[in-house]
Amino acid sequence: MPVSDFISVSRPDAEWWRTAVIYQIYPRSFADGNGDGIGDLVGITARLDSLASLGIDAIWFSPFFESPQKDAGYDISDYRKIDPLFGTNEDFYALIERAHQLGIRIIVDIVPNHTSFKHAWFEAAVAAPEGSPERSYYHFLDGKGENGELPPNNWKSIFGGSAWSRVKNADGSDGQWYLHLFDSSQPDLNWANPAVAEEFDDILRFWLDKGVDGFRVDVAHALVKREGYPDADDRDANGNVVPISTMTEEEAERRVPYWGQPGVHDFIRRFRRVCEEYEDRAMCAEASMSPLTRLAKWVRPDEYHQSFNFDYMHSPFEPVALKKIVTDSLVEYGRVGASSTWVLSNHDGVRHATRYGYKHEDLPAPGDGIGPNDPKGDEALGLRRARAATAFMLGLPGSSYLFQGEELGLPDHIDLPGEFREDPTFARTNGERVGRDGCRVPLPWEGDANAANGFSANGKSWLPQPGSFRVLARDKQEGVVGSTLELYKRLIKERKAYGLGSGAMAWAEEYQDKNTLAYVNNGVLVLTNFGPDPVVLPAGEILVTTQHDLRIEGELEHNETVWVKL
Ligand code: NOJ
Repeated sequence: MPVSDFISVSRPDAEWWRTAVIYQIYPRSFADGNGDGIGDLVGITARLDSLASLGIDAIWFSPFFESPQKDAGYDISDYRKIDPLFGTNEDFYALIERAHQLGIRIIVDIVPNHTSFKHAWFEAAVAAPEGSPERSYYHFLDGKGENGELPPNNWKSIFGGSAWSRVKNADGSDGQWYLHLFDSSQPDLNWANPAVAEEFDDILRFWLDKGVDGFRVDVAHALVKREGYPDADDRDANGNVVPISTMTEEEAERRVPYWGQPGVHDFIRRFRRVCEEYEDRAMCAEASMSPLTRLAKWVRPDEYHQSFNFDYMHSPFEPVALKKIVTDSLVEYGRVGASSTWVLSNHDGVRHATRYGYKHEDLPAPGDGIGPNDPKGDEALGLRRARAATAFMLGLPGSSYLFQGEELGLPDHIDLPGEFREDPTFARTNGERVGRDGCRVPLPWEGDANAANGFSANGKSWLPQPGSFRVLARDKQEGVVGSTLELYKRLIKERKAYGLGSGAMAWAEEYQDKNTLAYVNNGVLVLTNFGPDPVVLPAGEILVTTQHDLRIEGELEHNETVWVKL
């Protein structure tokens, strides 16, 4: 029966991260405990039971450290302090304790590529003269042109515009330029300065000592910049970015002098050594590296424990592409002894319930959003496919990342007017790229509450919710047969019962035709129908289907997934 045998590198009961279902909390949008319209730690702790009942193993928190919030917390000014917007360090320690009581592990987000411009190091660097030790914590360079009026090279910010901004000297004259691969409020650190690495060793230990179980490492592939800061050569004739997946490794290192430079692995190994001073801690790399053969190098046994699988996330919802990416993931990660991860949504792109309502070719580039002036997708189809895709994902061996709200089937708020949009991408491109706010809208908890559907006690909400959130609120789905929330609970429960996270999967081609994809993992058949026509349901005990409650006979309808115990 099985045509291929991907032996899982996961071992039951060992190395929890290899099989875990990890739930991403975006703190400002989860639950507001103090009524200021922005989510916080007290709000999260009060709602933790709902995550325990969902069945997740760990939570990854997007950053909640002290920050001027120019990039929603990915711009940190003090790495050891919780931002008062979200509460206090003590609130976080109480949260860790409660989560651990519930059997939920805690992963925090570490941002080593850049600090905030309000970090003490950067303020000291700007105040200090050229060539000073203070400036060596960042990338300060002289400009080009007669009076240094041009940026040092052609690197572009990921959020739009140049990756360089110029500072003023103490006497008010124009000074050097500093590098920021993201917003100008996020200066890139210079990891060639040994003090930077020492500080991060200490920051990791600080949080490990407090009991966190791991780190998600932001822009994990960018720490090292190529010596001499050569121009990037990563655009085609029309000015569009050429994907590094189409370049050889050597070519990519040369043409994109700030991504995936070889020296970065020394720092990853250093992070790993710190984690290994403690028991059972893990790191997940946010590294936009492609293809998987290259990304797998980041998770060799002495480097990151795992990395996000963005190729999987960005795959179209169709069988040929998905089969290839799943196979490649298991083979390539497996080759280096790592388990694969899977993810469909996060805070940086369009939620999968919205994405799948569009033709793949009509979607914005990864990392961008959909706005009021863009064509509308088919919401009902999107949700239906999203449920099928989630069931396909949660049956795979490895760990799966969920983004808060996807268990409610939330769509993006694509009609969000520009005046509310806070993503720096929106301002840096004059609204041409709407940015990522559409997926970051506060969660609906109680659909009949006048207070932003229960998000905050007094109805304040830093982003308005779309009308559809009322019926999708958690309490409207809790215990309701066929709801997306109950579907997620059941999937996670059966996944655990059959040990699918640590299983070994094989494609089951006898159940496949051009519109379906099927695999068997630990005796459970997972079959997805991507086509427009129904297919015959396989014999066996049906554990879960994504469009109906349990059913013993009949057909698997279009855009539906079934789990069958063979
Ligand atoms: C990746 C994060 O996920 C994203 O939200 C952030 O804007 C950039 N890194 C910069 O830190």
